[in-house]
Amino acid sequence: MTITATSTSAPETERVEPEVLLDVRAISKSFGGRVVLNDMSMRVHAGEVVAFLGANGSGKSTTLRAVNGLIEADSGDIEITGVRLNEASSARKAEARRAAATVFQKIHLVPRRTALQNVCAGGFSRLPAWRSIPPLFGDELKEEAMACLERVGLADRAHDKAGSLSGGQQQRVAIARALCQRPRMILADEPVSALDPRAADDVMRLLRQLAVEEGLGVAAVLHQPQLARLYADRVIGLRDGHLVFDCPTAELDDTELAALYL
Ligand SMILES: Nc1ncnc2c1ncn2[C@@H]1O[C@H](COP(=O)(O)OP(=O)(O)OP(=O)(O)O)[C@@H](O)[C@H]1O
Ligand SMILES: [Mg+2]
Repeated sequence: MTITATSTSAPETERVEPEVLLDVRAISKSFGGRVVLNDMSMRVHAGEVVAFLGANGSGKSTTLRAVNGLIEADSGDIEITGVRLNEASSARKAEARRAAATVFQKIHLVPRRTALQNVCAGGFSRLPAWRSIPPLFGDELKEEAMACLERVGLADRAHDKAGSLSGGQQQRVAIARALCQRPRMILADEPVSALDPRAADDVMRLLRQLAVEEGLGVAAVLHQPQLARLYADRVIGLRDGHLVFDCPTAELDDTELAALYL
């Protein structure tokens, strides 16, 4: 079939909805008989930043951990890039989960290795195990890792030891490492909690850029509602394992927000 370009623009009604990258459907989780996540549902679309807000212990990390496979939910289902985890083979499940790269507050870089070597680690899942030591990384992976460092604005620090970089720079290296995994989505669990306000803004701006410019989905746990207001398209509020709101950022209600932390 030949597709011909036409000068007529598509009518409003034909606007295509962004792809659903993550569809969490009614997941629940208990630890030692205590329910910590109750019937939680949420979605992340391509090109969108979703902020998770909620007090300590409300279930934010548990939700992200159920998505990335650090834990398994007791019930409910999760669909990542169209793959339903409950029905998928373990290989397919692992592949789907690789599409969701995680960034944590505690930045797990190897301090004595260079920024570039740390970023290369993001590509390991695509390599045979014997290639996962620095001298054997291969030029292709190094080039891709360098492009990821460029993307986060740190190409000039590629050969510096990760441990010599500031906290904000290290978090950007961690994001570059996540990008080297070629994800469709970034799950960020308190990515800026250990950073000063300027570095926190830099990291949030970067996550937003990745969503807007590259169509990644971003789900970020934040303890700073003002950052959610600035950088998120949608905000999700959790309280005691329950979803209490899920709305466009512009509709975030101050009273509802305050109630999360009572
Ligand atoms: N592996 C575990 N074993 C037992 N209890 C756990 C485990 N992981 C989480 N919990 C409990 O589940 C609840 C929710 O924890 P979670 O880490 O999801 O909270 P959170 O919203 O991320 O909080 P914070 O803002 O402090 O990071 C907490 O009460 C926590 O103690
Ligand atoms: Mg947490």
